[in-house]
Amino acid sequence: MYSDKVMDHFENPRNVGEIENASGIGTVGNAKCGDIMRIYLDIDEEGIIQDCKFKTFGCGAAVATSSMATELVKGKSIEEAMKVTNQAVMEALDGLPPVKVHCSLLAEEAIHAALWDYAQKNGIQIEGLAQPKSDIHEEESGEEY
Ligand code: FES
Repeated sequence: MYSDKVMDHFENPRNVGEIENASGIGTVGNAKCGDIMRIYLDIDEEGIIQDCKFKTFGCGAAVATSSMATELVKGKSIEEAMKVTNQAVMEALDGLPPVKVHCSLLAEEAIHAALWDYAQKNGIQIEGLAQPKSDIHEEESGEEY
């Protein structure tokens, strides 16, 4: 059911933890499954993501997607990090079963929420970034669980 990469990131998640004095912190949840994900970003003056850590209280797929998402945004610019969509995370993990697609959405939204927090703190605007919802369940349209 799960690819080797998903199992690897679930069993050995990368970048678990917190960043003290993080540049941006984003927390999102899905009220339907009850899972919560928090992403911490350390962004330097050039706008490069020097470090990224996560904490996920959620299913195995949520752990694997947050782990992969942190790997994908590390070392990237903000613009590049905006391209780390749930689709990109799923592709990097060699796919997820359809009922687990919403878990990868949590990862995308948590990154966006952390970037939003960073933008708010620094009084800047990030192109294409809207204020994130704290519960992604609100914006899902009849997806099967
Ligand atoms: Fe909800 Fe995976 S079951 S995030």
